[in-house]
Amino acid sequence: MKKKKKVSPIFTEEDKTLDLALRPQSFKDYIGQTNIKKNIRVIVEAAKRRKDPCIEHLLFYGNSGLGKTTLSYLVAKEMKVGIRTIAGPSIKKSGDLAAILTNLREGDVLFIDEIHRMNRTCEEIIYPAMEEFRLNLIIGKGPMARTMNLKIPRFTLIGATTRLALLSSPLRSRFGATFRLDSYTTKEIEQIIKRSASLLGLRMEQDSITTIASRSRFNPRVANRLLKRVRDFSEVKGSNVIKKKEAEEALSFLDIDEAGLESGDRKILQVLLSRFNGGPAGLQSLAIASSEEEETIIEIYEPYLLQSGFIQRTPRGRVATEKARKYIDKRRKI
Ligand SMILES: Nc1ncnc2c1ncn2[C@@H]1O[C@H](COP(=O)(O)OP(=O)(O)OP(=O)(O)O)[C@@H](O)[C@H]1O
Ligand SMILES: [Mg+2]
Repeated sequence: MKKKKKVSPIFTEEDKTLDLALRPQSFKDYIGQTNIKKNIRVIVEAAKRRKDPCIEHLLFYGNSGLGKTTLSYLVAKEMKVGIRTIAGPSIKKSGDLAAILTNLREGDVLFIDEIHRMNRTCEEIIYPAMEEFRLNLIIGKGPMARTMNLKIPRFTLIGATTRLALLSSPLRSRFGATFRLDSYTTKEIEQIIKRSASLLGLRMEQDSITTIASRSRFNPRVANRLLKRVRDFSEVKGSNVIKKKEAEEALSFLDIDEAGLESGDRKILQVLLSRFNGGPAGLQSLAIASSEEEETIIEIYEPYLLQSGFIQRTPRGRVATEKARKYIDKRRKI
């Protein structure tokens, strides 16, 4: 079994109840991403004025845990329409997609999560559906095959993906608007932790919130997960107000250091520094040398290491920065 990463933003079973309990139910509770919220408000308002139940199809992309699913639900709520959710990998045949599309109600949002993992053969079905709300079904095989053209309810497609580059360009171009979700600022993460703490009925000193936020990799899902771990830790200790010291102890106990890095991240930096003399190192070589999968490096380690200035990406590969060198040196001395 793969080692579980506490600071991975990828959804796990453990997050299920937490995600549901803490998911913002209104735009007011959805912290940050101001530009996206503004744009969506305009799009929805314009559709309302046109008395159109649908808006243009939207594509959200960004790393795991940044709020794509939450945002999609909020859009449907703002539009006052139903939402049907489906995971890209579960759409295996064009027939699966055809069945979903014909069962939508007029105006519904169809949310396809991980849309980059939808079977490519479904794209032929989805293009006319997105453009003209029509289905072109091929019935039968060989010379007997014929096409059936069906009208389907008008709908709004919202796609979410962590890997925009894996989406074909014809599919990408059929979305009316594409939004990239950025990482949050430490201040925004603090606000998210504050809100979550109050929903969970926790009392916390401001310093403890700052400590958790600074190690949350600018990611709401990681922040909520660390908050839960700190809560469990302080419950065991029997304290009723969470203090900075407890937060620090809990996070060190989980092997998450003051920079928000855990052993996997440090290993990448160490490998880059010692085996590749700081780089540049290609993704494949780095993956082999650190015994990690390329996907894991791209989706879990790299976004944060890049954002916090530990590595840089150059055309010739990944390079460790001076900050990384100093950080690893300092840890060696501890
Ligand atoms: N802007 C935000 N404000 C407050 N909480 C947020 C925000 N964005 C995300 N969250 C919290 O983080 C959790 C994860 O967000 P969400 O499931 O929407 O991420 P995602 O981008 O869809 O991730 P994945 O790519 O793994 O599906 C939510 O349940 C919510 O509690
Ligand atoms: Mg999601």
